[in-house]
Parts: sequence; C-alpha cells; structure tokens
Amino acid sequence: MMGEIVLVISGASGAAYGVRLAHVLGQEARLVVTESGRITMAHECEGLTPETLAEQTGATLEKNADIGAKSASGSASIDAVVICPCSGSTLGKLAAGIGDNLATRSAIVAMKERRKLIIVPREAPYATIHLENMAKLSAWGVIVMPASPGFYNLPKTMDDLIDFVVARILDHLGRDNDLTKRWTGDELP
Ligand SMILES: Cc1cc2nc3c(=O)[nH]c(=O)nc-3n(C[C@H](O)[C@H](O)[C@H](O)COP(=O)(O)O)c2cc1C
Repeated sequence: MMGEIVLVISGASGAAYGVRLAHVLGQEARLVVTESGRITMAHECEGLTPETLAEQTGATLEKNADIGAKSASGSASIDAVVICPCSGSTLGKLAAGIGDNLATRSAIVAMKERRKLIIVPREAPYATIHLENMAKLSAWGVIVMPASPGFYNLPKTMDDLIDFVVARILDHLGRDNDLTKRWTGDELP
C-alpha cells in the first residue's frame, strides 16, 4: 500500500490549488493548514474552513501547532509532502532549516528522510531572497512547482487553470490523473 501524502496549505494566495488537490487526493491526504492559510482559504474560497474541507474530502486534518502529529514523523508511512500554495515565509523557513510548526516540520522531515517534497510558491514579483531560497531548495532535491498554469491547452475557466497546476503536481506524485489534456505533439499546424 502506498503511504499518505501530507498536504500543507500555507498563507500564500492560491488556496484554491490546495483545495482542488485535497479533493483529488481524498483520504490519501493528511491536511495541514497554517494560521495564515486558514485566513486566505476563507477569503478566497467562499468562507471555506479546513474542517469543512477535511469533511468534504475525507482527508485527515492535523493541527499546525501539533508538532507531534503523524506528518512530523520520520518513521510514519508518508510518501510525500506538498506545500500548495507555499508562502515566501514558509519557503524562507525551509531554506533555513526551520521546522517551527507542523507545516514546516513535515517538510524538513521530508528532506531528511529523502521523501519527495513539492512546493508551489506564489508571489509576484519574487524578491531575490525568494529566488535564492527556491534555488537552494531545488539544489537539495525539492521540486519547485510554480503556481503558473500554462495556456497551451486553451483554458476556458478558472477550474481549467487550477487543474493545470494540480495535474502537474499529481504527475510528480506519481498519481495517475486525466485532469488536463496531455500534449501529443500534433496540436500545432
Ligand atoms: C489575502 C492575503 C494574501 C497573501 N498572499 C501571499 C502570497 O501570494 N504570497 C506570499 O508569500 N504571502 C502572501 N501573504 C502573506 C502570508 O500569509 C504571510 O507571510 C504569512 O506569514 C505566511 O505564513 P505561513 O507561511 O505560515 O502560512 C498573503 C496574506 C494575505 C492576508
């Protein structure tokens, strides 16, 4: 049996990406929402709370302050950690090795256990410190997946744009999905 996926929703804009990913992963996800993530989720997703999201998806909700939760364990059966979206603040903590809450600790544990760690940063523009931190994490094997949907599938709706990013995350988690069309090479005249 495959291990679970820790899904962290931090306080960058773009909570909808994490919410969609939670729906696709369902019971496979252990959900951690930071305090700022709770605020952005409510603001951007029609008042949605982490508790309701967990109920809707079957994900196991863990408290960000609960540093002893399963997601923080190196011996637990966890396949990967995804931080979606990832704030510049959480990004900076990871680049500095700081695991001061369950969100950051689960990611630091993923790095030390050589679990897959995918971060989905969102900021515009990026400060040099963000870029340096991303370069550092990338060099350490972290997958830096920008919240930058492609337009070559000719998206019509916001859901199409969200699914584009979520599909790329699922690909890197090794989870089969048909959220978007795959490029065949025959699209251009
Ligand atoms: C409405 C709103 C939107 C925000 N958008 C972003 C963003 O896109 N990127 C970012 O890095 N921080 C953003 N922030 C700031 C973070 O929430 C803040 O830096 C916070 O400390 C992040 O904490 P966390 O990483 O523990 O969630 C936003 C805050 C609010 C209230």
